[in-house]
Amino acid sequence: MEIKNICCIGAGYVGGPTMAVIAQKCPHINVTVVDINEARIQAWNNDDLSKLPVYEPGLDHVVKEARNRNLFFSTKVDQAIDKADMIFISVNTPTKTYGKGKGMAADLKYIELCARQIARVSKSDKIVVEKSTLPVRTASAIKSILDNTGNGTDVKFQILSNPEFLAEGTAIEDLLHPDRVLIGGDISTAEGKEAIDALVNIYATWVPEKQILTTNVWSSELSKLTANAFLAQRVSSINSLSELCEKTEADINEVAKAIGMDSRIGSKFLKASVGFGGSCFQKDILNLVYIAKTYGLNEVADYWEQVLLMNNHQKRRFAHNIISTLFNTVSGKKIAFLGWAFKKDTNDTRESAAIYVADELLNEQSKVSVFDPKVQKEQMYTDLDYLNTRSSEENRAGLSVFKDPYEACKDAHAIAILTEWDEFKTYDWQKIYDTMQKPAFLFDGRGILNIPELEKIGFVCYKIGSSKHNY
Ligand code: UDX
Ligand code: ADP
Repeated sequence: MEIKNICCIGAGYVGGPTMAVIAQKCPHINVTVVDINEARIQAWNNDDLSKLPVYEPGLDHVVKEARNRNLFFSTKVDQAIDKADMIFISVNTPTKTYGKGKGMAADLKYIELCARQIARVSKSDKIVVEKSTLPVRTASAIKSILDNTGNGTDVKFQILSNPEFLAEGTAIEDLLHPDRVLIGGDISTAEGKEAIDALVNIYATWVPEKQILTTNVWSSELSKLTANAFLAQRVSSINSLSELCEKTEADINEVAKAIGMDSRIGSKFLKASVGFGGSCFQKDILNLVYIAKTYGLNEVADYWEQVLLMNNHQKRRFAHNIISTLFNTVSGKKIAFLGWAFKKDTNDTRESAAIYVADELLNEQSKVSVFDPKVQKEQMYTDLDYLNTRSSEENRAGLSVFKDPYEACKDAHAIAILTEWDEFKTYDWQKIYDTMQKPAFLFDGRGILNIPELEKIGFVCYKIGSSKHNY
């Protein structure tokens, strides 16, 4: 089966970059990315490529090559569904904020709406591909909706699960050179196998076939949750030991290096931090915990939940350390944040540790000033408002956003590094020190700065996971 037209519903961090790369690599396929958010689609169509709604290194180049050739961004969802042979669902699946499973289960209402819309509009057979991260067995719900809510025409649907493993900040590189592509489908039927092959053929344009794995749908769905749970677990494991290092004379970076050289352990994802963020780790583990509990597997649920408890602890203890170091009061004190994004090289802030650390400090009546190279001011307020801790006006009064890092740090009692942006390493730290209140405290939540150099300037430093620089 040859795919000529693809539609992707959802033009976010997953849908946008993934479709841009598919379009770049497969000029023979028309790819239309649709979204109900008009502003987002307009931004994707902006002539000024620095204004794309998603910031990813290299994305502008890919979009420039493919846009309006065979890559289109549109709000005409029905039209794109109708035309497509293959439809990717890349809509958001946030954690439920209401009802059963509140705070744990994924909210599948956007997925369900998509499935109903596909069923209503489709007049020809379609392959529907789950791209969003979903709880195990979502495919069967989608299939049931597609098969039972049609528009009267005899249309056949095949459902595939094709989880996304790209990490933000390196999305284009991850898409171009994936460790593996995973495709789950109905391997027991000829139609299912044909659908799997159609998607394999697309990826095989640029991914070596031995790296394209095919499984049944449930394995594919569970693999995505498992991969993220394992990665997050490594971060929580190293973060738990960072606290122990601060009490002993061990240094977490040395420990990470020593264990990472064991090929069975490996060196990646062992960087101690102020806590992991991002749209996936917490949501996926909550999903895993919820599913385990649903099946009465309480020990399994407790085991994975601990990864999240540790992460919350790490964010909170970073904030509390700032408060206690600043003589137990930060009331009225300016604390400068360098970084708001959940990691470098992205403008995404979902679940960023910065939000929670700021919230703790604002509770203590601190004046937080923020500089981030890519995150917009309004996004920071939206993030804080979402927590519902205080009124929107109070958030605006407590947190100020600067376009210049030196201005953000001027007159500050302390600086906290919340994101590991490379540019922070190259700042004129002497100049920053000269404009600060003394003692000038610096809390490196990412372990990226040259602490001995900063101490020579006069900074009083705290580095995550090190007792030497821990007050
Ligand atoms: C993650 C998965 O890596 C990706 O495969 C999946 O598709 C989506 O979820 P992402 O959330 O974009 O990707 O970024 P990732 O690089 O995994 O980082 C997640 C968080 O962990 C960030 O806040 C990062 O700063 C933190 N982290 C990561 C650490 O604190 N230490 C590390 O060693 C690695
Ligand atoms: P992700 O990181 O998973 O890509 P995002 O929130 O960045 O998540 O993007 C999801 C996108 O899906 C949003 O832009 C949202 O407007 C869009 N979306 C949600 N529901 C629908 C729908 N029914 N039809 C079209 N677009 C939708």
